[in-house]
Formats: sequence, C-alpha cells, structure tokens
Amino acid sequence: MNRLNKLVAIALPALLLAGCELGTKEQEQVGYRGTAMVQINDPDSKAKVGEIPAPPYELTAEMVAGDKAGTAYENVQVLGDTSVDEFNYLMQAMTTWIAPDGSAIKDAGCTYCHNPENMASDEKYTKVVARKMLQMTRTINANWKPHFGNQDNGGVTCWTCHRGNPVPVNNWSTAVPEPGNITGNKRGGNTPAASVAYASLNYDPFTDYLAGKESIRVGGKAFPTAASNASIQSTEKTYGLMMHMSQGLGVNCTYCHNSNNFAKWEDSRPQRVNAWYGIRMVRDINNNYITALGDVWPQNGAGPYGNRRGPHGDPLKVNCATCHQGVNKPLGGYKMLKDYPALKGSTPAPAVAAAPAPAPAETAAAAAVVKPAA
Ligand code: HEC
Ligand code: HEC
Ligand code: HEC
Ligand code: HEC
Repeated sequence: MNRLNKLVAIALPALLLAGCELGTKEQEQVGYRGTAMVQINDPDSKAKVGEIPAPPYELTAEMVAGDKAGTAYENVQVLGDTSVDEFNYLMQAMTTWIAPDGSAIKDAGCTYCHNPENMASDEKYTKVVARKMLQMTRTINANWKPHFGNQDNGGVTCWTCHRGNPVPVNNWSTAVPEPGNITGNKRGGNTPAASVAYASLNYDPFTDYLAGKESIRVGGKAFPTAASNASIQSTEKTYGLMMHMSQGLGVNCTYCHNSNNFAKWEDSRPQRVNAWYGIRMVRDINNNYITALGDVWPQNGAGPYGNRRGPHGDPLKVNCATCHQGVNKPLGGYKMLKDYPALKGSTPAPAVAAAPAPAPAETAAAAAVVKPAA
C-alpha cells in the first residue's frame, strides 16, 4: 500500500463514521426539555416543495351557483351537484394535474381520459379511474380530517399525489418473493432497500401494514421491565415501516416518539396522532379505492400507457411518501384545497367508507397530555 492509499484507508472510515451526510445540520427542540426530542434537518438536502400550479381562472360565487353539471351533461356520476362552470374549471385543473397539455405524455390533455368525439363515454379506463379518484379525494378530505389536524381547507387535491404525472412518482406494490431454497431465502430482509431507507430490514413493510390491517404493536407494556411477545419478524417489519415514515416525511424518529419508550403515547408528540390516522387513511385509500378498481387496471403489457401493476399483478399503491415527498407538510403546508371546493366532499360521496374509528384511548390521552407545538 502506498502512502496515499494508506491515508485514504485511514481517512475514509473516519469520514463514514462522522455521520452519513456531510455539511452543517440545523437542530430544533421539539419536545419537553431533557427528553432528547430534537429534530435534525440538513438544509442542503431539504426536499423541494416545487411550484404549485395556479387555478385555471378565478372561480366566482356566480359561477359556483350556476346550473348543475348533473343536468347539463349525460354521464356525470360523482360531480352532479357541481355547477357547470366549476365542473369545467375542475376538468381543466385535473388535466394540468394528471396529463398536462404540451407535455411528453401520450394523449396529453382532455384526451387522456376522453374520446373527444363523445365526452360522455366511459371507453377509456383512465376516465373510470379518475371517477373513482374523485370519490377517493372527497373521502380523504371529508373523512380523514384528523390526519390534517382538522385545519380549515386541510386536505388534498389530485396534485398532492400526481404532480403532473399520470402515475404518482412514489408508489409501491407487493415485493417479489425470493427463491424458496434455504440459502436464497432472505426472509424478506437483509437486502438494503430504498423502501426502508436502505436499512437491512424487511423491505416490504407495506403489504401488511398499509394494505393489510396488521397491528403495529411490538413494545412491552411497562418500561423497562416488560418483555415483548412480538416476533423478530414483526418487530423488523415495524421498524421498516418506521424508517419509511421518517424518510417519507423527512424527519427523525423523535419527531413523533420519545425514544425512552417508543410505544408510550403519553410521552409522544401530537404528530404521532396525525401519523396514526395517516396509517388508517392510507389503508382506506389502498383497499377501498385503488385495489377496489380491480381489472379496470389493465394487465401489464396490455394498457395504452404502460404498466399499471407490480410484478404480483396488484396495482401501484400509496404510502406516506406519495403525498409527503420528504417534507412533514406536503406542499410546504400550502392549502391548495381552498380553490377547489368540489373536492371537499362536504356532502358524502356515494359508496364511501364509514367515518374512521376514533383513536384508541391512549391516542386521545397523548393528544391531551402533550402540549401541541406552536
Ligand atoms: C384525468 C381524467 C380526465 C381528464 C384529463 C379530463 N376529464 Fe372530463 N371527465 C372525467 C371524468 C371522471 C368525468 C365524469 C365525472 C363524473 O362522473 O362525475 C368527466 C366528464 C366530463 C364531461 C361530461 C360529459 C358528459 O356528457 O357526461 C365533460 C364535458 C368533460 N369531462 C370535459 C373535459 C374537458 C373539456 C377536459 C380537458 C380540459 C377534460 N374533461 C379532461 C375525467 C377527465
Ligand atoms: C392519495 C394519492 C392520490 C390522489 C389524491 C389521487 N390519485 Fe390518482 N392515482 C394514484 C395512484 C397511486 C395511481 C396509480 C395506480 C396504478 O397505476 O396502479 C393513480 C392513478 C390515476 C389515474 C390512472 C392514470 C394511468 O395512466 O393509468 C388517473 C386517471 C388518476 N389517478 C386520476 C386522479 C384524479 C383525477 C385525482 C383527483 C380527483 C386523483 N387521481 C387523485 C394516487 C392518487
Ligand atoms: C410521523 C410519526 C412517526 C415517526 C417519524 C416514527 N414513528 Fe414509530 N410510530 C408512530 C405511530 C403512529 C405508531 C403506532 C402505529 C399504530 O398503532 O398503528 C408507531 C409505532 C412504533 C413502534 C411500536 C410501538 C408499540 O406500541 O409497540 C416502534 C417500536 C416505533 N414506532 C419506532 C420508531 C422508530 C425507531 C422510528 C424512526 C426510525 C419511528 N418509530 C418513527 C409514529 C412515528
Ligand atoms: C393523501 C395525502 C397524504 C398521505 C398519503 C399521507 N399524508 Fe400525512 N399529511 C398530509 C397533509 C395534507 C397534511 C397536513 C399538512 C398541513 O398541516 O398543512 C399531513 C400531515 C401529516 C403530519 C403532521 C405534520 C406536522 O408537522 O404537523 C404527520 C405526522 C403525517 N402527515 C404523517 C403521515 C404518515 C406517517 C403517513 C403514512 C402512513 C402520511 N402522513 C400519509 C397528506 C398526506
């Protein structure tokens, strides 16, 4: 080994140990003093919120009050109560959000969902999907308000997920099984995967937790003596999901937890309650809307616009990163919904899921005990 190589051999591990990312970090106390509840941000790698498209034009009160789309058009099943003017305004916005005119997307513009010869026809699968997505968006905004801290105009539009793409950039589908032999079977882990922020944990924490309803409880009840009955597998999978949640929101574990006891709600921040609702909201989205579309999603290789399913044949689903994209408040907290009242779903959309069950007692306790941050 020459001198330079030696130097590199000595310096490199030191650099690696000095922290995963170089550069200055900002830290902010987010919990009670002395509890190590700190949020560490890297100003260089802060995810960009991006430009938010302006509404197509100003929507006046007269426009909202005009004739209803349900009577003016032939085949309006969800937006029937919306005025014709607001309906057309929303069609334009949806085009910008999903398949913007002038983009490289095949059939960009109204024709991404419509046969221009007959706007009422449902012959394009994309229109059938979009109708279900309208119901889904209304359900998110009407039924899952607690996820958004019950704020005025808290909620989402199609843009929150789509950002000008027919398929949102951050999505997941069930991961491929491993070969069945002993040496090849990595038990769903030991393969540093992007889904769990490159930790060597189970790389598909989504199928059981964000589509399935498996319980996310691995800690013992009393700290520090209680033994946990959870298996190594479900513990690793829980940590995998937590790595995704941290990465998806661009926060540390201590943004939600007090690390002296991860399970204890009384010592957690109120944001953990938002997250609790978030997990249930995502299950509702994935099961009752995306998966419920069934064979509306074309088989891989058969669709006009590319593959819309994963290797197991299930559709591409939502996780925390689909909306959050690396920031704790999607779109930097901008309340885009205020300009699209038709997406609020104040009148329950047809065939929506029942209102979410209230948080368990411990969750309510957490909200009561922990003083919300300003
Ligand atoms: C992302 C898919 C999508 C795009 C893009 C889209 N639409 Fe639509 N359109 C729909 C859906 C879904 C419906 C039915 C809504 C319902 O059932 O409530 C609809 C219905 C309509 C109708 C009612 C037709 C009838 O008689 O039933 C008109 C008119 C219309 N759209 C115009 C447009 C125009 C103009 C554009 C382009 C500026 C456009 N749409 C872009 C999804 C889309
Ligand atoms: C919570 C996130 C989310 C929201 C909000 C959302 N979508 Fe989607 N949408 C998805 C995902 C994920 C897919 C991809 C599913 C797949 O390809 O298997 C998708 C697919 C679609 C597609 C099919 C595109 C294609 O090329 O196959 C259309 C059309 C669509 N969405 C329209 C809408 C409209 C219109 C809205 C607003 C009313 C909306 N979406 C709101 C997550 C969302
Ligand atoms: C955005 C908030 C949030 C972040 C960030 C977060 N968690 Fe969690 N964590 C939760 C919620 C909510 C639950 C409970 C889930 C449920 O009950 O459905 C939970 C549950 C847990 C549990 C199981 C507790 C029990 O009751 O057995 C552990 C362990 C855990 N988290 C560890 C972590 C670790 C480690 C990190 C960082 C890698 C992390 N969490 C990041 C919100 C968060
Ligand atoms: C459909 C889009 C969407 C999805 C999916 C989603 N969120 Fe959110 N989330 C939001 C919006 C919008 C807000 C409200 C931001 C604001 O205050 O303006 C929010 C707020 C939060 C907050 C409060 C942030 C703060 O700093 O106060 C937490 C924590 C959170 N989400 C966690 C999660 C977790 C964990 C998941 C996945 C299990 C998730 N979210 C999935 C849209 C989403």
